[in-house]
Amino acid sequence: MPLGKALDVIVVGSCMTDLVSQAPRLPKAGETIHGHKFFIGFGGKGANQCVQAARLGAESAMVCKVNHKSQWLTIVTSSISSTFYQTSNAATGAASIIVNDAGENAIVIVAGANMLLNTEDLKDIQASLSRAKVLVCQLEISPQTSLKAMCMAQESGVKTIFNPAPAIEFLDEEFYKVSDVFCCNESEAELLTGCPVSTVDEAEHAGQNLLARGCGAVIITLGPQGCVVLQAKESTSKHIPTEAVKAVDTTGAGDSFIGALAFYMAYYPTVPLEEMARRANRVAAVSVQTMGTQISFPFKKHLPSALF
Ligand SMILES: Nc1ncnc2c1ncn2[C@@H]1O[C@H](COP(=O)(O)OP(=O)(O)OP(=O)(O)O)[C@@H](O)[C@H]1O
Ligand SMILES: *[C@@H]1O[C@H](CO)[C@@H](O)[C@H](O)[C@H]1NC(C)=O
Repeated sequence: MPLGKALDVIVVGSCMTDLVSQAPRLPKAGETIHGHKFFIGFGGKGANQCVQAARLGAESAMVCKVNHKSQWLTIVTSSISSTFYQTSNAATGAASIIVNDAGENAIVIVAGANMLLNTEDLKDIQASLSRAKVLVCQLEISPQTSLKAMCMAQESGVKTIFNPAPAIEFLDEEFYKVSDVFCCNESEAELLTGCPVSTVDEAEHAGQNLLARGCGAVIITLGPQGCVVLQAKESTSKHIPTEAVKAVDTTGAGDSFIGALAFYMAYYPTVPLEEMARRANRVAAVSVQTMGTQISFPFKKHLPSALF
């Protein structure tokens, strides 16, 4: 399905079906145990980020690849403005997730059709992409496809957010150069820099290291500690703390943060990046206070007007 109307936030990335079982504990190899709850959710970092941007009011589109019989064709379209899905005989990406009573999990991801989204497919979205305000990419699809999309965006003056997740140790250096904002969490920053990242000071140090690789800005999210923001043009790093809330389920908090950041970059381009990060902290803080991933992401109408 081609992208028709003007779209401001475009996500080129993954969509997955989450198959979630809750059980008292995680099974051992070869063991079968009884769980007490099962549900199917719609996830994938790309889709999660796109849904959060849409819930804040962004005209948003998801560019992804799914199985030709996938339920995604109807479900995704209902929650975001537009989808450009390519279909494949390969299975739609799936994540089998087991969560124990302590909240720990074991996850197997089969990327399936996601990995088949290729640079040829991007030719079909070139016109829409060049007119967008923000492009968001991650690493749950083929890295070459993400990189190509980011290069296309940069050539058209479209702002880019890159989320190097799930992390890989050796990331093509080009990714840094085409990232207006390079946004990762603690463990990703550790893997990419080889430095420990658990305190704010350590995050600022790792952030300097990432910034020096050529991105416009770096944001490292720090869970309940908020995030740090570093900008090449200001050669400053700022810690943006967040409010203390009772976290019930932090799954997808990073995706909520990035979706919100994409929304602010598209619609409030003159607001300083630190202020965007402060607001994205507040959106993500709402998402951790209820169970679930996309289902916990807040809508504009439920948020204080000071965020808009
Ligand atoms: N316990 C918390 N209390 C308040 N805000 C939180 C909490 N956990 C996460 N957040 C918010 O969500 C943002 C992203 O969280 P985090 O750094 O844990 O990302 P992540 O590790 O990618 O998330 P995920 O849990 O989905 O893997 C934080 O910068 C913060 O704004
Ligand atoms: C960072 O995100 C990855 C997913 O890419 C997740 O597996 C990891 O637990 C996160 N790290 C932290 C410290 O939350």
